[in-house]
Amino acid sequence: MTDPLLLRALRREPVERTPVWIMRQAGRYLPEYRAVREKHSFLELCRTPELAAEVTLQPIRRFGFDGAILFSDILVPVVAMGAPVEFGDGGPKLARPIRSRADVDRLRVPEPTESMPFVGDAARLVVRELPGEVPLLGFAGAPFTLLTYLVEGGGSRDFAETKRFLAHAPDAAHALLEKLAETVARSLAAQIDAGCAAVQLFDTWASALSPADYASFALPAARRVFEALAPRRVPRLYYVNGIAGLLELAAASGADALSIDWRIDLGDARRRVPHLAFQGNLDPHALLGPLDSVRAKTRAVLESNGGRPGHVFNLGHGIFPEAPIEAVEAVIETVRESRPVRS
Ligand code: CP3
Repeated sequence: MTDPLLLRALRREPVERTPVWIMRQAGRYLPEYRAVREKHSFLELCRTPELAAEVTLQPIRRFGFDGAILFSDILVPVVAMGAPVEFGDGGPKLARPIRSRADVDRLRVPEPTESMPFVGDAARLVVRELPGEVPLLGFAGAPFTLLTYLVEGGGSRDFAETKRFLAHAPDAAHALLEKLAETVARSLAAQIDAGCAAVQLFDTWASALSPADYASFALPAARRVFEALAPRRVPRLYYVNGIAGLLELAAASGADALSIDWRIDLGDARRRVPHLAFQGNLDPHALLGPLDSVRAKTRAVLESNGGRPGHVFNLGHGIFPEAPIEAVEAVIETVRESRPVRS
């Protein structure tokens, strides 16, 4: 028995073809997901292991992706810390943003098996159903990205409150990042213990920071998470949206693979950081174009990688609800037709 393709690629071993999965592959672009969502709220899906397992498996059944990603959300552990979140149409909202040292001190560092048992339960159900060659990925939000949601009280365009907090209360910010790092490390460890074969840390909003602020706030917190997971010996992926200006710093996070957005050429990224595996990096908007252009842009990503071992095909960010199923099929077919050059 050889290890699953995805895990071999993440270890930068030569592979017979490039593995492919898609961020947010269990989501609203799938009619079968929308059918489940008509009957249940988003948080109900996250908190009910049978439902979370069902929607995790939907894209595997339909497309045969090379990896499954556990259905949940980066804000689930934040709720367990004592900061309630509502998922409405305008994205996640927190009733009480965290803006002072006292707010930070009130947050708990939860024990995942007690406060989020549904996550591990869902993972165990999924692993039982998955074909042996399809590994399950666990994930969490990176401490800094979670901090932005806590401080802003939801999503943000300019992260003004976050930057105000970092500048006015750097000690409180570091204390919050510390609590988040511990929470996230425990959550990922529990997911690995429940059967996840790789984990991805989403630092979606870290590129809102200057390289200097990234190096003093976001990076050390992400590094703490990766270090805590080292003994478990599973591949650790790190996603930063807008990574171009932070690439070498992000490569020092201790991650085994960088998951990159589409604003940087994959080949350039691999030349700048030759010692890590890479995941990405098709522009999710490419899926809204004609199918010929979807195929051409998919091939361009593969060509940019140039047959280097250690590439997992993915989008540069999550798939949009508007993406046509045919575009996803065109991506998968194009990746599967190509043969990476062995080296
Ligand atoms: O990738 C997967 O298929 C696994 C599931 C997953 C979800 N969220 C499900 C989800 C993952 C890995 C995430 C991560 C996540 N969540 C991130 C980091 C990755 C990224 O996309 O940048 C962030 C920033 C969040 C926070 C979040 N959750 C936002 C901003 C939103 C609203 C935007 C949106 O797409 O609706 C969510 C809700 C959410 N998380 C949905 C899904 C499928 C949509 C909920 C619904 O069904 O209505």
